[in-house]
Amino acid sequence: MTIKRTWWKEAVGYQIYPRSFMDTDGDGIGDLNGIRSKLDYLKDLGIGFIWITPIYESPNIDNGYDISDYQKILRTFGTMEEFDLLLDEAHALGMKIIMDLVINHTSNQHPWFLESRSSVKDDYRDYYIWADGKVDGPPNDWVSIFGGSAWEYDEGTKQYYLHVFAKEQPDLNWENPRVKRELFSMIDWWLDKGIDGFRVDAISHIKKAPLETPSTSDPFESFKNVPGIETHLEELRDVFKKRDILTVGEANGVSADEAYQWLGEHEGYFNMLFEFDHISLWNKDEQETLDVIHFKQAITRWQEALADGKGWNALYMENHDIPRSVSSFGSEESVFWQASAKALALTFLLLQGTPFIYQGQEIGMTNMPFASIDDIDAVDTKNFYHEMIHAGVSPSKAMNVIRRTARDNSRTPMQWTAEEYAGFSKRKPWIVLNPNKQVINVLDESMDSHSVLNFYKEVIKLRNQSEALIYGTYKLYLPDHPQLFVYGRRLGEERFVVIINLSNEFASADLPENVQIEEWNLVLCNLNDHSIHQHTVFAPYEARVYKHK
Ligand code: GLC
Repeated sequence: MTIKRTWWKEAVGYQIYPRSFMDTDGDGIGDLNGIRSKLDYLKDLGIGFIWITPIYESPNIDNGYDISDYQKILRTFGTMEEFDLLLDEAHALGMKIIMDLVINHTSNQHPWFLESRSSVKDDYRDYYIWADGKVDGPPNDWVSIFGGSAWEYDEGTKQYYLHVFAKEQPDLNWENPRVKRELFSMIDWWLDKGIDGFRVDAISHIKKAPLETPSTSDPFESFKNVPGIETHLEELRDVFKKRDILTVGEANGVSADEAYQWLGEHEGYFNMLFEFDHISLWNKDEQETLDVIHFKQAITRWQEALADGKGWNALYMENHDIPRSVSSFGSEESVFWQASAKALALTFLLLQGTPFIYQGQEIGMTNMPFASIDDIDAVDTKNFYHEMIHAGVSPSKAMNVIRRTARDNSRTPMQWTAEEYAGFSKRKPWIVLNPNKQVINVLDESMDSHSVLNFYKEVIKLRNQSEALIYGTYKLYLPDHPQLFVYGRRLGEERFVVIINLSNEFASADLPENVQIEEWNLVLCNLNDHSIHQHTVFAPYEARVYKHK
């Protein structure tokens, strides 16, 4: 089989949330020079490209996802010159950089919106979605993903504007060709600078249903992958397709069956998608344990839907919007923490697709034991907490839910050392630090050959060196096993089997006929005590990779 080599299929990505990555100017907030100072660390980890979440000018209501100038760097993060240096230095080390592209909405402080809200007759009025209210309130019953009505009343012009996220994030009107032209020329401007692609934020929301459409049991249906979106996406694709870049769309509401249309090699809109099937973003239930069978089904659905060149997967277990994977899917208990963090690495890093590691995941960072709602910064979490209190939930019960679901769990500062401010800053950081920096930090883990960090390095190295693990086919074994995730990867004669016990109990299984372990070499295992290896019994969170002899 001939392989069409593609850089973004071979590289492992690393997501940086700059506020919490590394502070060099001592203001308690991470910055661009902080990222520059850690490029060697990322290179050593085996990273091929970095995705940086928004660093543009912004009033920071949603930490940079509310942009007030697309072509300026937020002062707290640094300058455009420092960005250019960062790009050059990353390139010199053989790493690429992709930026966050937030084009569903802007900040309400963006000059377009300030103009737009100034008068119903303003030339920029149609840059956003304005409508008259009904006698008793907003134009319709749509609700925002961040809580409350999706409409905000404007006293000055006596109309409402639509916001799918916070009220300070008004949605752009993609039906207006001028809006698209402005956005596309901004995209070209960044690409001309030499960046290597985009993670495209909230892109499945750019098309809205007719405003008469009432809400359904899925409260976001009227602005999630609505028919007609293809026209906008085709135009966006035509801007991207002139260059050899990586594009990954955040695609809430796009199912595995529809992914082909979004990703097909010639006509697709993006190279890959962040799907929401295996991770319930914006789901505020207190999820207690991982449903292994369900999880395997979701993963396999996407692996199969995009097999044979039909598309390509973006693989992730964490990002800045979801709690830490060890806390949600593994275990924080000291006996299991390390094994489960490593087990989760094998759960997603060796699937078919491009892995994205979120900062701190590679050292097994966990959720934050938030003491009170005052420790929380994220706008949606604060809204949600107050909604619960309003509905009569007790503060302690509400905090329990928040602790398990808050986005801020993954936004606490990166733990570089065990020092007072975790080597992240010389000053008290903008958000609370996880006290477990004493145990979980880069410095200590880099000196321990059995650490989560060194395991990540080994797994990435294994993947980076194997065509089968990059381009090979995927096959699920034992689909109904409630604890084990067993999958195979194959390219010609090169074959791997990955076996992971995703539970905190011993698991046993008769492996399928064609996975007779005698014929396979163990190439990686997450338990230090190899003496307990029996072929068909797996310790809690044990994970092994075998290669065919
Ligand atoms: C995306 C981002 C999230 C942000 C939202 C609104 O989901 O990942 O952080 O709050 O879009 O821009």
